[in-house]
Amino acid sequence: MEMISYGRHHIDEADIQAVVDCLRSGALTQGPRIAAFEQAVAAYVGARYAVAVSSGTAALHIAALAAGVGPKSALVTSPITFVASANAALYVGARPVFADVDPATANISPAALAETLARNPDVKAVIPVHYAGLSCDMPAIKSVADRAGAVVIEDAAHALGARYANGQRVGCCADSLMTIFSFHPVKSLTTGEGGMVTTNDEETYRKLLRLRSHGINKGEDIFHYPENAVTDGVPNPWYYEMFELGFHYRITDIQCALGLSQLAKLDRFVARRRQLALRYDQAFADSRLIQPAQMSGRESSAHHLYPVRIDFSAAGISRATLMKELRQRGIICQVHYIPVPAQPYYRSRGFNPDDYPNAQAYYRQTLSIPLFYELTDQQQDHVIAVLKEFLS
Ligand SMILES: Cc1ncc(COP(=O)(O)O)c(C=O)c1O
Repeated sequence: MEMISYGRHHIDEADIQAVVDCLRSGALTQGPRIAAFEQAVAAYVGARYAVAVSSGTAALHIAALAAGVGPKSALVTSPITFVASANAALYVGARPVFADVDPATANISPAALAETLARNPDVKAVIPVHYAGLSCDMPAIKSVADRAGAVVIEDAAHALGARYANGQRVGCCADSLMTIFSFHPVKSLTTGEGGMVTTNDEETYRKLLRLRSHGINKGEDIFHYPENAVTDGVPNPWYYEMFELGFHYRITDIQCALGLSQLAKLDRFVARRRQLALRYDQAFADSRLIQPAQMSGRESSAHHLYPVRIDFSAAGISRATLMKELRQRGIICQVHYIPVPAQPYYRSRGFNPDDYPNAQAYYRQTLSIPLFYELTDQQQDHVIAVLKEFLS
């Protein structure tokens, strides 16, 4: 039996050829495909600059550093996210803080964010997460963050190809300093592993470039000791300076070859995901027990996931039993997410998941059902039929 997973990538012959061409080109890393991929994504989302890195997590880490988040400061994010969004605070020695979600979207609530910022004057940055591909209310978040003097970094790991309510593409950074993306295989497009930061701020861009590669400047920025960089007026080809403590977070040309090839299909990927999401919406429209978790922004979401909310107590079945029954019928679902403050590591640092009642209520009911480009109508009908068998 072919298993139908909650998400998966799509690779075609053009992708394979692009990677083969890269392998034959001789440039495996630090070659021309990295800049080409960065420029293509920046142009797609409408941002001035983009820096490609080895993962979305690396993107979050260097974005937090570039935003000046560090010890004695705090960083607010959503409890309904992957742990990486909050871990970015811990990587830079800052204090993670959570603001509860809006039950209608499972995205961070601007009202809860305002209260959280009022209680935590040391917050230096806010990381809203465009959960499941649906953009957050960025104008509201930006205005709340501005009032608190906090920088906004958008976690758009789920949202490449999505738009904001005003029609601009997620990642253009109109209401943020930076946006991060992930190119893990279940995401909108894949590079195997990979990530990117977009920004419109040149200084931030330069800092991100350095942080990606050991904090080293090879002459893109003004040297601290320019006299060591030249001999008789000619640049010394070996010379570089380490300005700050950076990392090895570089992506390879092989990955960017795949990314460029995938980007050419992105709009098609998102359009099919949307079509499938609307089919699910229709199928569950009259159900009391199963409802789409996000009903707004259906035309603008990247539809990374299709999370539903299920009234398990009314249905008389537990989530664990339902997932087991689905798996026996070839359907693999997933839960996005266990609220981050519920993780043992966070609890041991004093967090209590009950402090975020909307996130807890969401977690108790949510299930991500299959949604990906290659999902056929027939496979989707099977998923719908099996769910209805248990939830009617
Ligand atoms: C919301 C969110 N942020 C960040 C990440 C981290 O991305 P990566 O896996 O590329 O490091 C993920 C990955 O799943 C994610 O879902």
